[in-house]
Amino acid sequence: MVLGQTLAQTTMKAVIILSAGHGKRMKSALPKVLHKVAGKPMLQWVLDAVKTLKVDQVIVVTSPELEHHEILKNTDVVVQEFPLGTGDALKLGVQKLNSNIDKLFLLCADTPLLNPQDLKNLEHSKADLTVVGMQLDDLNKSYGRIECNSQCNPVAIRETKHNENVKNISLGNAGVYAFKVEMLKELLPHLEINSESREIYATDLVELAVKQKYTTELVIADEENFLGVNTLVELSQAENIMQHRIKTQHMLNGVHFLLPDTSYINYDAEIGAGTIIEQSVHIGKNVHIAQNVKILGFSYLSNCTVENAASIGPFAHLRGNVVVEEHPSKGNFVEVKGSTISKNAKAKHLSYIGDAIVGEGANIGAGTITCNYNGFEKFKTHIGKNVMIGANSTLVAPIMINDGAYIAAGSVITEDVGPDNLAISRTQQQEKNAWALSFRAKYSKK
Ligand code: UD1
Ligand code: MG
Repeated sequence: MVLGQTLAQTTMKAVIILSAGHGKRMKSALPKVLHKVAGKPMLQWVLDAVKTLKVDQVIVVTSPELEHHEILKNTDVVVQEFPLGTGDALKLGVQKLNSNIDKLFLLCADTPLLNPQDLKNLEHSKADLTVVGMQLDDLNKSYGRIECNSQCNPVAIRETKHNENVKNISLGNAGVYAFKVEMLKELLPHLEINSESREIYATDLVELAVKQKYTTELVIADEENFLGVNTLVELSQAENIMQHRIKTQHMLNGVHFLLPDTSYINYDAEIGAGTIIEQSVHIGKNVHIAQNVKILGFSYLSNCTVENAASIGPFAHLRGNVVVEEHPSKGNFVEVKGSTISKNAKAKHLSYIGDAIVGEGANIGAGTITCNYNGFEKFKTHIGKNVMIGANSTLVAPIMINDGAYIAAGSVITEDVGPDNLAISRTQQQEKNAWALSFRAKYSKK
């Protein structure tokens, strides 16, 4: 009996995320919800926030082009063939709801900044229909506006594009709602097509609910957390806010940004305490930086691991599975791709190091290039411990420069070099005595 009562009281919850529609205002071929903020698609931000809610089902309503996208692999997917509005998308999503679901949260996939705590507050709402509202500082914003009764409970949501006057209402609609499913199933068939846009609006449910004497409730949230991205301008605003959040977290963990506003940090960057990041640095996808590293100005890193106390840049480019071990320094205009730079190795100026292993203590002279690609295949360069590569050398891969070898400056090296040997591959220098005197004399007679 006691067990039976407990089961009956358990509320089964689901989330529907709306991610279909053209995203026409983005003026981009990429579906709106795949546009990235700090390197993560907007839809993925919303899916990740939803993980913090304890729900029994997650449904994504999406356009046909995203139906089989891997981002949706752990969700129930419903395809909305034509973008007939948020109300139409919601109707389709509800058809996929498991029969035991009592409470439904509706979210939009174009709000990448949403805060899991706000969603938790929504979880505790008691009314039949709860709307998340935000106090707008700028009344020109295009968000729908929430009309409330004297008890501050929502009675309608009006879209500004149909009536400029509603812009005087400062309570904006975040596009996030909680519904009791029983009520929703009763109201949905009554949603009508908007005569101007020819779309069905989920927002019209509020007015319908009030007419049918259902209870409504307002949950107030911070506008920043529900910034709706409909244009590339709003995408850049979301990026700025997310970057600020990400860098604040790193700074609190002991990372020193010289000019934080000038650097880009991907959402997944790991950066150890004591690391200094100078101005205008790009830390892209899959970057792991250990402690006490220096990333000097204007460096660009992606897919790389930088171990303790390394110094990178200024103007360095690391990409494609690069590992930089402890204490090396890599500097001005050095590009490294798919390579390991071992402890205490140096490459300080103007080099391309691709598909190479650079041994401990090796020194790569200015202007050294690894020729790793023949137009069809990539080849490896192995540079042993304590090797000295003279300036302006060309290493044609596949090639092995063994430990302790020297490469004379300006050489083109096409064959392996033995340990501690010197390889020179350049034309012998000639000197012609007093040549310049006779050359100048010839011209002075004219
Ligand atoms: C919507 C709300 C508005 C609110 C704002 C919050 C409506 C009618 N208006 O406006 O009150 O202030 O969100 O950001 O709901 N979508 C579909 N199918 C469609 C249309 C849209 O799945 O047919 C999806 C979109 O991918 C998007 C979400 O629904 O993620 C919201 O649609 P959008 O067109 O961005 O609505 P807004 O104009 O922002
Ligand atoms: Mg929107």
